[in-house]
Amino acid sequence: MSIKSNAIGTLLLLLLFATCAHADKTDRLIRKANRYFAPLPEAMPGSENDTPARIALGKKLYFDKRLSINDTQACANCHPLTDGRAGMDNLPRSPGARGELGDRNTPTVLNAGWQIAQFWDARAENLAEQAREPILNPIEMGMPDEASVVKKLGALSEYAEAFANAFANDSPPLSYANLAEAIAAFERTLRSESRFDDFLGGEKTALTPQEQSGLATFIKRNCIRCHDGHMLGGTLIEKLGVYKDFHNTGDQGRYRVTGDDEDRMMFKVASLRNVTVTGPWFHDGSGETLEDSIRIMGRIQLDVELKEDEISDIAGFLGALTGKSLEKSRDESE
Ligand code: HEC
Ligand code: HEC
Repeated sequence: MSIKSNAIGTLLLLLLFATCAHADKTDRLIRKANRYFAPLPEAMPGSENDTPARIALGKKLYFDKRLSINDTQACANCHPLTDGRAGMDNLPRSPGARGELGDRNTPTVLNAGWQIAQFWDARAENLAEQAREPILNPIEMGMPDEASVVKKLGALSEYAEAFANAFANDSPPLSYANLAEAIAAFERTLRSESRFDDFLGGEKTALTPQEQSGLATFIKRNCIRCHDGHMLGGTLIEKLGVYKDFHNTGDQGRYRVTGDDEDRMMFKVASLRNVTVTGPWFHDGSGETLEDSIRIMGRIQLDVELKEDEISDIAGFLGALTGKSLEKSRDESE
């Protein structure tokens, strides 16, 4: 055997070794990620009774501006779902039916039903309970009370029929509770699966090398202490400002609900699914870029000063949490 072919042999061996080592590293990352995260389940809790009639009714209500005092504002105004929109309006704070701004950033409705509770301060137990609030909120949709909403819808023949179909066993079928239940049924269909789910399922090329490196950093830097599980958040209520104060302590979070001093600055840990496309960030919409928001999280929640490349890798990884259909429609509209 010549020296040359020997050298080629060694080179091939090295190459083989390098490829295996890389594949191995990805395999290990997938195994590790599965310890902290889980793919999005097929169905949201409570969806067992969601008949097509209920979902269709809920969808109609969700997009109907007549649910507001002056027929200008639907749920979909603040939580848009068409044209590649990610279930929120990308404004720091949203204008209500009369143009007045609310005091918190609008979260996305995508995947929302998998969270332990709804709202930044977790004050509503589930989607149906949540849906009762905005319609009567004076700033948001401004209806005076439940009875006026039921009366307004009852005067529209299309709704009398749709409620009768969706809630055949209830009398009357058209009630405020059933309106909320129908909207919740529609929202339980807003499942947005991402490339990260494919990666967790073993598809090694579903994440780019940078996204993989961001995932490794996200785990190593302990973001998973709060952002874990199938929603990468949404299941814990934690203090915002563990090591250093958050830059805005005007809104004290759960304290507003309970009045307990221990609930000061306690907020629901935000789910990071679709986070890249749901800026600006934080409950007050003060996070202007995703990178800044990540830097602030490291600083105040973990007492670490993340390096620039760690921040951009993590941001890359978070991009892999965007729903695949959303990624596609956003690509097409560019
Ligand atoms: C004027 C804008 C506006 C309108 C209209 C509106 N929302 Fe919201 N929505 C918000 C804001 C702001 C929050 C967060 C408020 C808070 O946490 O206190 C929110 C929170 C939510 C949440 C909780 C998400 C989470 O992750 O905690 C859901 C679900 C939701 N809205 C659905 C709806 C539905 C259904 C309707 C129609 C019945 C609706 N919204 C109407 C602005 C709006
Ligand atoms: C001790 C718990 C905790 C840790 C650790 C933590 N976070 Fe958070 N994170 C939260 C809470 C609570 C919120 C909600 C903030 C609010 O209410 O404004 C949040 C919000 C966020 C947001 C904004 C989400 C949105 O939709 O506005 C991002 C991005 C984020 N975290 C990323 C990270 C990253 C990256 C790390 C690791 C460097 C991390 N977090 C570590 C608790 C934590």
